[in-house]
Amino acid sequence: MSQSQSNVQSMQSTVAQPNASQWSGAAVREAFLRYFEAKRSHKRLPSASLVPANNPTVLLTPAGMLPFVPIFLGIEPTPTPPRVTSSQKCARVSGKASDLESVGRTRCHHTFFEMLGNFSFGDYFKTEIIPWAWEFVTQELGLPAERLWVSVFREDEESYRLWKEQVGVPEERIFRCDEKDNFWGPPGPTGPCGPCTEIHYDMYPDRPELTRDERLMEIWNLVFMEFFKDAEGQLSPLEHKNVDTGMGLERITMVLQQKANTFETDLLFPIIRQLETLSGFTYGQSEPVDVALKIVADHARFVAFALMDGVRPSNEGRGYILRMILRRAVRYGRRFLGFTQPFMHQLMPVVAGIYREHYPTLTVQQEPLAQSILQEEQRFLETLDRGSKSLEEILQKTKQFGKTEISGDDVFKLYDTYGFPVELTADIAVEEGFTLDIAGFEAAMDNQRHQARSSRKAAAIVSDQVFSDILASVGESRFVGYETLSAQATVMALVVDGERVASVSGTNQPFQCVLDVTPFYAESGGQVGDRGALLSENGPNGLTVVVKNTQKVGQLVVHDCLFDQGACLKVGDSVLAEVEASTRQLSALHHTSTHLVHAALRQVLGPEVSQAGSSVGPEGARFDFSFNRGLTESELLQVEALVNRWILENSVREEQYLSLEEAKKAGAIAMFDEKYGDVVRVIAYGGFSKELCGGTHVDQLGQIGLIKIVSETAIAAGTRRIEFVCGELAYRQFKRLEARLEQAALLLKVPEKDLLDKIQRLQEELKLRERQLEALEAQQSMQTIRAWLGELKESGYFQQKKPICLLKNFSNTSPDNLKRMAEALESELKKVLAFDSSASVRFVALFASAYEEKAHFVSVVSDSMVAQGFRAGDLVKQAALLCQGNGGGRPQFAQAGGKDASQIEAALLAVEGRIRQSEAFLEALA
Ligand code: SER
Repeated sequence: MSQSQSNVQSMQSTVAQPNASQWSGAAVREAFLRYFEAKRSHKRLPSASLVPANNPTVLLTPAGMLPFVPIFLGIEPTPTPPRVTSSQKCARVSGKASDLESVGRTRCHHTFFEMLGNFSFGDYFKTEIIPWAWEFVTQELGLPAERLWVSVFREDEESYRLWKEQVGVPEERIFRCDEKDNFWGPPGPTGPCGPCTEIHYDMYPDRPELTRDERLMEIWNLVFMEFFKDAEGQLSPLEHKNVDTGMGLERITMVLQQKANTFETDLLFPIIRQLETLSGFTYGQSEPVDVALKIVADHARFVAFALMDGVRPSNEGRGYILRMILRRAVRYGRRFLGFTQPFMHQLMPVVAGIYREHYPTLTVQQEPLAQSILQEEQRFLETLDRGSKSLEEILQKTKQFGKTEISGDDVFKLYDTYGFPVELTADIAVEEGFTLDIAGFEAAMDNQRHQARSSRKAAAIVSDQVFSDILASVGESRFVGYETLSAQATVMALVVDGERVASVSGTNQPFQCVLDVTPFYAESGGQVGDRGALLSENGPNGLTVVVKNTQKVGQLVVHDCLFDQGACLKVGDSVLAEVEASTRQLSALHHTSTHLVHAALRQVLGPEVSQAGSSVGPEGARFDFSFNRGLTESELLQVEALVNRWILENSVREEQYLSLEEAKKAGAIAMFDEKYGDVVRVIAYGGFSKELCGGTHVDQLGQIGLIKIVSETAIAAGTRRIEFVCGELAYRQFKRLEARLEQAALLLKVPEKDLLDKIQRLQEELKLRERQLEALEAQQSMQTIRAWLGELKESGYFQQKKPICLLKNFSNTSPDNLKRMAEALESELKKVLAFDSSASVRFVALFASAYEEKAHFVSVVSDSMVAQGFRAGDLVKQAALLCQGNGGGRPQFAQAGGKDASQIEAALLAVEGRIRQSEAFLEALA
């Protein structure tokens, strides 16, 4: 065991200690959940996904309370019992609560961690939770009471009193803090928040010389969620007083295992051990190595869990965060642990092993996840190769201008052109003594994002407070759209430009409308919202409101509307709400087909296929799933054929409402962002497809008619997308293909059945012609070389014994032909020697050509010049490097190529300059 992994307090036998031996990380998790479940009657819930199900204010779940925000806000109903406990997967890598910079440099910060929590929804409050918390840490965990301190919010007298009088914490170990430390939340820019009280553990009770902050480590945060903070920063009271507590699993495990930091607990140390084995470096050997080992170990867990929850590396949103974290880990590994090859993927088995019991999915998906990581690592190594030169130039340039700050535009260029995450550029820059103009970078980013923003507007409605208020005042909308497409309803609320209004008028005014009862399906589960109309008899000509889209805020259904006819709608009006049946039917058959494609993929490729997302609407469907390679033609055919067979068999829809546990037991497939809820809807067809789903579906599979897969592509490393169309759209797709075939047959003037033969014949003919052309070209080149040598001969050049430096650009000559010319030159010159003993043949030649947009070079150097130090291999290499390529070969003969043909002339000039100015050449000339 290395020095720094020693138990922190093992030398201090007089200090009270918990009993380290009984506490694995898993045991701590279980003890917490069991205490609240068994002793305090909480419902135990599984962790929600790291990807928030319905909260656009954050990219990743930063706290245990996040899944319950809609309950705290009153958007979703309070569950029974109104108290739950969970161990929630959390990430703190972006936004205001990012801990990224602290990871590895403090004893307990992480990008990914688990948060143990218990929650009261308007149920128990301070009087209960304070003594419970004390009982749990002292009795259940066995932490010595004399090492515990507590902090309370400055004005929270009640908590102060409870700690002092009811629990009996001595006053000298209770201290008051302000908003910075003892007021928690909201988790994003807006949301629920409240004052808190924290339990701290004294890490160094026998070192009175340390300050309180140095000695204490916060282990449990008890938040009294009483307020809602809006976009202006105003606090308003929530309907209920709630409790939200959070105890970092890694931290409390570190305390119980008496380790110096969380990385040494059994929740992380196996990863460090694996890194030691892979890299040959040892934990404890030096500060930078330790920091790197910790950062990589931390990031490995983040990467594993983000992937498990369906995040895939990309350049946006949470995909970007994942990419950035993975790349950051790779860079630390390269810089401090000596890795030159991909290594992160080799940590996956260890991470999966740590969570074998609690997160078995990690073990099941270990292979494909490791594959995705490997691919992303390889991609990053390429990025580094490409971008490093540009970064170097930028650093040089910055230095030349006497600056130490890298401009925002340059940082953006590295990001945009080379895929350098800004955090990576920052890391490198800091190592080289530079800083970044982050504000400038963000301005450049904003510029680019500007366009994309309008398309995201739709999402904003979900977080809009005005709809939460409406929900609170008018209650849920009753959705009747599974059974009917039209319903008589009453207008309950109207919203114009984010303001609640009593009536709407004006023809081009978009507005939102909430009804008491609605057949409109609101966008969710990948299915687009319904379109249709609201009709009423109002006025002389009646009224038609066009419903362009339907969205959801909690259980409130919001219709996006415009007037078509008539121009006034009031709260209280009664309307006939009619869904556009044709588009709804198309959405339904595409949605059902998505389930069938999912089931077929699992049959054809195996049960490890898991859904990563989907999007279905009247125009078609796409289904995203995790899989590590492209599908073969035959696999795609099998999937399509299987689905078509099921459609023909025409099974009837079976619909069931079950508890989540029952549904899972029945083998229903659940999506990664499955939300908590007591009852789930299960949609099944014919024994081959059974999924949790709230979408609309066909009654019988035959209604789908036909499915046609249109494409299969990669959308990210390890994630594939299948796009397809059904019903009449599929039929039309086939008709289009047929028409195209007919056109092709017409163009080639053969009946359609002979089309393939004809194409084959044409191809052969083309090949023949190409060969003829090449032969012709070869002849011509021969002639060129011969003519040129003839001139030299006539001018008596070979008797002057001067060296020849011959650089020529034969544009649009194939590389083969170029080579032939060089060979011809070589052999013709040799002939000169053979026939004329007085002649001297000393030459250095470099031929170039731009062919198919690439640069090609061939060089020939005579033996005599090789003896003078010239090398054909060096010459082509020099030229090719200037054209973004590389190459080499023998001293007498070499070939090379480059990507950038526009630089050929410049490259020839540069190489010629070098040859002519070289001492060897000047000597040979003399
Ligand atoms: N929400 C609080 C925190 O994250 C307590 O769970 O610390």
